[in-house]
Amino acid sequence: ARADDPLITDLDAQPWTQFLGDPVDAMPYGMPSEHEAHVVRRTVSWLTADATSSINFTPLHELEGIITPNGLCFERHHGGAAHIAPGDWRLMVNGLVGRQSVFTLADIMRFPRVTRTHFLECAANSGMEWRGAQLNGCQYTHGMIHNVMYTGVPLRLVLEEAGLKGAAAWVLAEGADAAGMTRSIPLDKCLDDCLIATHMNGERLRPEQGYPARLVVPGWEGNMWVKWLRRIEVGDHPWHHREETSKYTDLLADGTARRFTWEMDVKSVITSPSPQAPITHGRGPTVISGVAWSGRGRVAEVHVTTDGGVNWTKARIEGPSLDKSMHRFNHEFDWDGAPLLLQSRAIDTAGYVQPTKDALRAVRGVNSIYHNNAIQTWAVDSDGRAENVEIS
Ligand code: MTE
Ligand code: CO
Repeated sequence: ARADDPLITDLDAQPWTQFLGDPVDAMPYGMPSEHEAHVVRRTVSWLTADATSSINFTPLHELEGIITPNGLCFERHHGGAAHIAPGDWRLMVNGLVGRQSVFTLADIMRFPRVTRTHFLECAANSGMEWRGAQLNGCQYTHGMIHNVMYTGVPLRLVLEEAGLKGAAAWVLAEGADAAGMTRSIPLDKCLDDCLIATHMNGERLRPEQGYPARLVVPGWEGNMWVKWLRRIEVGDHPWHHREETSKYTDLLADGTARRFTWEMDVKSVITSPSPQAPITHGRGPTVISGVAWSGRGRVAEVHVTTDGGVNWTKARIEGPSLDKSMHRFNHEFDWDGAPLLLQSRAIDTAGYVQPTKDALRAVRGVNSIYHNNAIQTWAVDSDGRAENVEIS
């Protein structure tokens, strides 16, 4: 801006300097600026028949750093968001345990607690992109993910309190919502790093995220993170329920299906520039920013290309690099105003490299909805507008 800009020289153009502001208690629970009202979760109307069993998307293109604010975490409900009073919440542990037990929330809160930051990605994230570029914006192509700092009790401690019997090998987690959602989880995973979480980003879970308690299953598909948790059954076999047979299995080209594909493979996306976040400043210094994550550990490196994969440059990982958590990457470059083909490619600490769409389709076909972790391309035109495209 110029030095004689009225917004720096003319107090009449700046009413906020001349009148008193809001008192401290104008809003006991704080809200974002009214100028940020466009930063909201959004749905895709044609995706589901009914809003009660549906999904909305995190506005990734508006966010910075690695933490998703609570009010912007995407929601996925199979039977609507349940509202449970904490005093009415109960957790039963039954099956192959020494003592069938029922815990209140107060009981759970007396176990030693831990705090961990993890991403939750729905297995269906990017599922609409299997057969071709479809949705114009990373909110819709990649927004079935959030990254939250959870506080909760290791599931291991609750299972040990109930006493595991020798044959115990699997756990069934059941939700208290109208969907009564259930998933089978191998006992090893439950004893390793699963949590019964009560808090997200320092405050209590939001109702839509499973208040007062949800399962956290780090690095594994979001469907297993049972919300409004009410029962943990210990058994010696998986239960083969709906969400692990007709749903959340990966139909291959030959008609057979992969099942129990729990881990979320390494993935990344450029959030800016992107279709909802075009370049508006013209040529010159430009920041490419995005997010990357892996269910197999940390993200080791992210590479960025501006020419559709001819040349790749290592981006800077910015901020904390945590296990099974979202990472932020940035890459600054001098834009000459020519059209761009932007891509990011992440590599995790397990050595797994994010595949191209062609490479993924060669193995998985195009029948699947779930586990699409392919490289995303944005075509940026000379006006800075970005579009979802595919190149081969
Ligand atoms: N748990 C219950 N009880 N009911 C549900 O509908 N949806 C699952 C999982 N846990 C669901 C549930 C799915 S498919 C996903 S992707 C995640 O919760 C979404 O968690 P979120 O709503 O916090 O984003
Ligand atoms: Co899901």
